[in-house]
Amino acid sequence: MSKLENAVPGYRYLVVEPYTPNIGATIHDIDLAQLSDASLRAELRKALAEYQVLFFRKQNLTPEQQIEVAKVFGDPDKAKAFFPRHDRHSVIEVLEAKPTGHRYGTDQWHADITFSANPPTGTVLYSHVIPPAGGDTLWASATAVYDSLPKHLQLYLEELEAVHSFEHSGWPQYFAQLADGDAIYRKARAEHLPVVHPVIQTHPVTGKKIVYVNPNFTDRIKGLSRQQSDALLAFIFAQFQRPEFQARLRWEANTVAIWDNRATVHYATADYDNQHRLLHRVTFGEDRTF
Ligand code: SIN
Repeated sequence: MSKLENAVPGYRYLVVEPYTPNIGATIHDIDLAQLSDASLRAELRKALAEYQVLFFRKQNLTPEQQIEVAKVFGDPDKAKAFFPRHDRHSVIEVLEAKPTGHRYGTDQWHADITFSANPPTGTVLYSHVIPPAGGDTLWASATAVYDSLPKHLQLYLEELEAVHSFEHSGWPQYFAQLADGDAIYRKARAEHLPVVHPVIQTHPVTGKKIVYVNPNFTDRIKGLSRQQSDALLAFIFAQFQRPEFQARLRWEANTVAIWDNRATVHYATADYDNQHRLLHRVTFGEDRTF
């Protein structure tokens, strides 16, 4: 293990360099294909809880090894979105933007799959092809957002619940581009009825409070009029825009990002017209997310 000037103490097996003061860390000198050591796996879980998103450069993972990485944190066979799947491993979602192909609506702040009753607790995203410039991903800390709110607003939000649905995300538009899009849309609607989540959640590992709404999937706050709900949600969503709460990753091929999907929201920048971008995603979860 090499010495790194910015490495934080408290880790025996990992070299952890904070990425910003509020969110993110780069983990150095690790080969994610070699994770058999239980102490190392435990430190990875500790780092994810502490930093919310972890970055690993220069990794070489087979699809099987990426799935093993996800298993360090949870069960990779839980909630999935509507992305095409890997031909040999259905738990791997293939996120591919070809120069003249479909685009996904991931350029909106969201936590993955909050339109399901038990959304993933986290995600392992591994880059294969990255445009020469652009296609960065940003994460925002939803615990830092909660902490920044005035006490009386925190207390008010804790009484509220919100409805989440895939309906007003980019998915219906994506389905419309597909030859069998109507049938896929009808099936998605039948299988994914809107769900209700508390607006404020408590992280089961860290005990931190989380603002658990996002513009991609949160439709409305229950008990408020549409106007009131839109205005309150717009106020909360605006907090994700604060650079102080964000980490922005400039991808290279063979980078892995692992995020805590309970404590963060993320945004995939769509600024790479006519360029190829290909990543493999493995979400992981538990029987109960909270
Ligand atoms: C996602 O929303 O999970 C994808 C993020 C990305 O493509 O960078």
